[in-house]
Amino acid sequence: MPLFPGARKASRDSVRHPLFARCYARVSVTAETRAGLGSVRERMLAGLSGRVLEIGAGNGLNFGHYPGAVSEVVAIEPERLLRKLALDAARRAEVPVDVVPGEAEALPVKSEAFDAVVVSLVLCSVRDLPRALGEVRRVLRPGGGVRFFEHGRGGGRAMTFTQRALDRTVWPPLSGGCHLGRDPVAAFRDAGFELGPYRRLLVPEKGPRTPASYCVLGTAWRPDEGE
Ligand SMILES: C[S@@+](CC[C@H](N)C(=O)[O-])C[C@H]1O[C@@H](n2cnc3c(N)ncnc32)[C@H](O)[C@@H]1O
Repeated sequence: MPLFPGARKASRDSVRHPLFARCYARVSVTAETRAGLGSVRERMLAGLSGRVLEIGAGNGLNFGHYPGAVSEVVAIEPERLLRKLALDAARRAEVPVDVVPGEAEALPVKSEAFDAVVVSLVLCSVRDLPRALGEVRRVLRPGGGVRFFEHGRGGGRAMTFTQRALDRTVWPPLSGGCHLGRDPVAAFRDAGFELGPYRRLLVPEKGPRTPASYCVLGTAWRPDEGE
């Protein structure tokens, strides 16, 4: 009986973006300091404890920021190269991290098994956002929380027009299935989460804005219907 049911099926590389993965592995490391993403990750994960599920862990840049009160992280990553890099990062992490193949739309873990779920720069790329958030709800214990850092729609009419145009053409194939014009806050609300607190931020904070600059950092909660 596999520890993570479904993981073997997902390991047939249902998400394959080898070129994007190679680029992301480099650019993301530079962005930790240059674009200030390291400190955003630190803020996103501060105060977490217990069992955590991280979805779309990429090359594992969050792993070094988990507080010691986190007892275990299960990190799902569908892309083969990024998963390999995540495994390296997991070995260096100070909290136990298990890296597992899988997809947000069909998480290979039991229901209500986690105190928290972490998504950073992932909801833009999942194929089916409502289904993925339905899965997040399923695996969180009642009252459990999501920590998120995502980019999305923003910046006024000209920018949202540009985001839409890029989403319909070159952007998703060039950037690992990413979309620029999604609204993560609305998506959480539509999926039945309670929002907050959350705040909008620009990445990078200073300098020219790009269609991917409009970010949101925050929390969402699975309501505890038993209360
Ligand atoms: C821009 S990277 C972000 C990586 C990491 N979360 C971070 O903060 O650096 C997007 C990640 O989402 C993953 N991804 C894409 N589609 C996914 C899906 N359907 N389910 C889970 N992860 C997915 C990609 O493989 C990639 O690791």
